[in-house]
Formats: sequence, C-alpha cells, structure tokens
Amino acid sequence: MMKLSTLLFALSAGIANAEYSGDIVQYWVDQSGLLSNNSLIGGLQSPPSGWFEAVVQAAIYVTAVQTKNESLAFQQLAVSHAAHDSLTWTFHGTRNYGNIFKSAQDILVKINISESDDRYWRAAAIGRKAAIKVTNARQDDKLNNFVNYVYNPATPGVYQRTPGSAFVAPDTPQARYLRTFSGLGDITRFRAPPPPAWNSSEYEAILNYVKAQGEKNSTVRTPYNTETAYFWRESSTIQWNRVAHNIVGNRYAKDVLTSAKFYLQVNYALANAAIAGWDSKAFYNSWRPVTAIRRTDIWLPSGKNEYISTHAIFGGAAAAVIKPWNNGSDTIDILQSTNGTGAGIGVIMRRYKSLKQAVKDNGDSRIFGGIHFQFSSDVGKATVEAFEKGWDKF
Ligand SMILES: *[C@@H]1O[C@H](CO)[C@@H](O)[C@H](O)[C@H]1NC(C)=O
Ligand SMILES: *[C@@H]1O[C@H](CO)[C@@H](O)[C@H](O)[C@H]1NC(C)=O
Ligand SMILES: *[C@@H]1O[C@H](CO)[C@@H](O)[C@H](O)[C@H]1NC(C)=O
Ligand SMILES: *[C@@H]1O[C@H](CO)[C@@H](O)[C@H](O)[C@H]1NC(C)=O
Ligand SMILES: *[C@@H]1O[C@H](CO)[C@@H](O)[C@H](O)[C@H]1NC(C)=O
Ligand SMILES: *[C@@H]1O[C@H](CO)[C@@H](O)[C@H](O)[C@H]1NC(C)=O
Ligand SMILES: *[C@@H]1O[C@H](CO)[C@@H](O)[C@H](O)[C@H]1NC(C)=O
Repeated sequence: MMKLSTLLFALSAGIANAEYSGDIVQYWVDQSGLLSNNSLIGGLQSPPSGWFEAVVQAAIYVTAVQTKNESLAFQQLAVSHAAHDSLTWTFHGTRNYGNIFKSAQDILVKINISESDDRYWRAAAIGRKAAIKVTNARQDDKLNNFVNYVYNPATPGVYQRTPGSAFVAPDTPQARYLRTFSGLGDITRFRAPPPPAWNSSEYEAILNYVKAQGEKNSTVRTPYNTETAYFWRESSTIQWNRVAHNIVGNRYAKDVLTSAKFYLQVNYALANAAIAGWDSKAFYNSWRPVTAIRRTDIWLPSGKNEYISTHAIFGGAAAAVIKPWNNGSDTIDILQSTNGTGAGIGVIMRRYKSLKQAVKDNGDSRIFGGIHFQFSSDVGKATVEAFEKGWDKF
C-alpha cells in the first residue's frame, strides 16, 4: 500500500504541475496564423507574414533556453508571455490587441499557475525580457522603410501593374532589404539565375503552357490541378507551419526547448525565403503571365513582379528544414487541410505521403492559377539553404 506521505506528495505534485497537455510552442504558432487572419488578401503580405512569425519564435526560443531547468508548466507560462508580448509588438497599429489577449488568456487557464504564486511573476519576467531582447534586436531591420517603386516603360518582359490588382506598386518593395534571420547575411547570394528571355526560342512554349493551364475556364487543366490551385492559395507561412505540425504532431509537447528549436528553424527558413524571393522579384522586375498574354482572363491575379515564385521558395525552404526532423526522410503521411482558398468553397483535405510532392504541388499551384511561369516555380524550389547554425541570431 502507498505510504500516506508518498500519496500526499503525489497529490501536491499533481496540483503544482497543472499544465497544458498540448505543445505550447505549436499553440502559439497556430495562434499566430489565426492572428494574421488566415490571410490571402487583406491580411499580411508574404514577407511580413514570415517576418512576424520569426520574431515571435525567436522570443519563444530564448525563453525556452532560459527556462529549460524549470517545470513544464513554468516553461509554458514563460513562453506564453514571450509570445504575447512579441505578437503585440508585431501587430502594433492593428486591432489585434483583443485577439492576442484572448489567445493568452485561453492558454493561461490551462497552464493554471495562479498570479498569487511567485512562479507566475518569475516566469512572466523571463518571457517579457526575452520578447524585449528580440524585438529590440529587430528594430531598424528595414521593414519600415519607404522604398520607392516606379513602373518602367511597358516593353516586353517588364513588370506592369496586374489588371485587377489592388496594389499601386508591387507588394512591400522594402522587403528585399529586410535584415535576414539566423545571421544568413547578404541575401543577394541566393538570387535566382535570370529567367529565359521573352524572345528566346523556348519562351513561346512556356507562355502557351501557362496560358492553357492557368486560364480561368481552362479545358486542359485537370480537376485535381484546379483543386491544387485552390489548396495552396492560402498564406504559405500558415500552410507550411501546419505541414510541420502534422508531421511532428505532439512529439515535443513535453520538451519545450526542442519544439522551440523546430518551429524556430521552420519560421526562420520561411522568413529568409521571402526575403530571397523579394530580392529576385525586385532585381528582375519581370512581367506576369497575364501581361504577357495580354488578356485579363487569367484566373487568380497577383500584384507582385513575377520572377520568382515565393510560394515555391517558401515550400522548398520549409521542407528542407523539416526533412532532418523527419529522420532525413522524404516520406510522410499527413492529412493536410486548408480553408484559405479565397473561393468560399470550405475546407479541402489532402493526404500527402511525400514532402517533395507537397513542395511540387505548392509551386505548381501558381501555374494552374495562371500566376507564375513554370521556370519560376522550378528555380524557387532550388533556392534553399540549410539553417543549421546561427538560428539564435535574430
Ligand atoms: C484581422 O481582421 C480584423 C477584422 O477584420 C482586422 O481588424 C485586423 O486588422 C486584421 N489583422 C491583420 C493582421 O490583418
Ligand atoms: C540548468 O542546469 C544545469 C545543470 O545544473 C546548469 O549547468 C545550467 O546552467 C542550467 N541552465 C539554466 C538556464 O538555468
Ligand atoms: C488549478 O489549480 C488549482 C490549485 O492551484 C486547482 O484547485 C484547480 O483544480 C486547477 N484547475 C485546473 C483546471 O487544473
Ligand atoms: C531579344 O531581345 C533583346 C532586346 O530586348 C535583344 O538584345 C536580343 O538580341 C534578342 N534576342 C533574340 C534571340 O532575338
Ligand atoms: C468562365 O465560366 C464562367 C461560368 O462557369 C463564366 O461565367 C465566365 O464568363 C467564363 N469566363 C471566361 C473568361 O470564359
Ligand atoms: C527516427 O528513427 C528512429 C530509429 O529508427 C525512431 O525511433 C524514430 O521514431 C524515428 N523518428 C521519426 C520522426 O520518424
Ligand atoms: C471555412 O471558411 C468558410 C468561409 O470561407 C467559413 O464559413 C467556414 O466556417 C470555415 N470552416 C472552417 C472549418 O474553418
């Protein structure tokens, strides 16, 4: 029979260790996605959508390192303060205060360390300090700067305002200068090779392909590929964080530091990929298929210079980070969902058994949407660098 003292100890330990049963880091990744409004249009644009998640994950990671000897509940509490404060910083100027408050309040109830408990304030102080450290480091990282964009004359190959696009200029022109994460340094090292010339011999076939596949009422696009265009239309940072979660599941729920490391790497890769994509877009300033075809019946208009596809590099970068966490294997078995189709067609579910296939569909989706040329997606997939060191450099 259990001794009374042991029983009492077990009971008190049970109370003291009230904690959230899920993965706290993943909780905040998920909340971050919701806070960016599951965005297609009207939410965050590509580079800021990678940037803000990287900032938040850096604050979480610093907190996880500093609390690694504490109880799980303590770590969860500290991480939640770091996430709340860094999210609030990234969303200053929006109406998101209330939503961020609610994300924090909902999880604090589950962690269940009362404010009358000293540990509450000790954990809060660590999380707050980490958020300050990271957000201070990201001041003046150039995302706020005004960078002008003036349209060049409408000669072949040159980007022009997309018919139907609300954007006055290509999206966030300053993002090409955004300071990278993980000490990656000069982003122009990752600049894509030049796209094929508009008057080269291979160009006509490329143009005809996207014209046929990306036409709104295309008769050659398969129903599966129509779905592919919708499926991957959602913000890539949200979609790839969901892929990441579906692959690792709750494996690191009790190991906050490892989970923090995983999601930090994923989000640094996404943020850096967006910067690399914007560098190539600005440098080549290429026309969109819609401009080349000189028709307005392209399916899903997009207001950014064409080359290269950030969808494709987001996917390539995220998959490169996820693979080592999957025992270096390309084989996965996930049921992935999306509701961000922008078409009000509800939830689409897809089973993915290979990371490569997810990356390929992700890139190809922009051709089936008539948004990108095939060469753009292919190059995007190759623009990947492993981020093995320096990911505590923010
Ligand atoms: C999210 O949506 C709400 C309501 O439409 C809006 O007020 C808020 O600014 C949006 N946040 C972002 C980051 O787009
Ligand atoms: C955690 O404990 C180890 C072993 O006692 C110690 O070396 C390390 O400094 C501690 N780390 C923190 C962040 O408290
Ligand atoms: C929260 O902790 C208190 C003791 O500190 C306990 O009485 C209560 O049942 C716990 N609530 C939950 C939901 O775990
Ligand atoms: C393509 O056009 C450029 C000018 O834009 C010209 O310099 C080049 O010679 C042309 N190439 C071919 C194959 O016609
Ligand atoms: C495409 O088909 C829809 C009906 O499904 C029709 O309303 C629309 O005019 C068509 N668009 C083009 C460009 O043919
Ligand atoms: C990786 O391989 C090891 C050893 O075979 C196994 O225990 C572990 O579950 C695998 N992890 C994943 C993520 O597949
Ligand atoms: C999916 O989005 C639609 C709006 O497009 C919304 O009405 C519905 O509730 C969403 N479903 C889920 C499961 O999020």
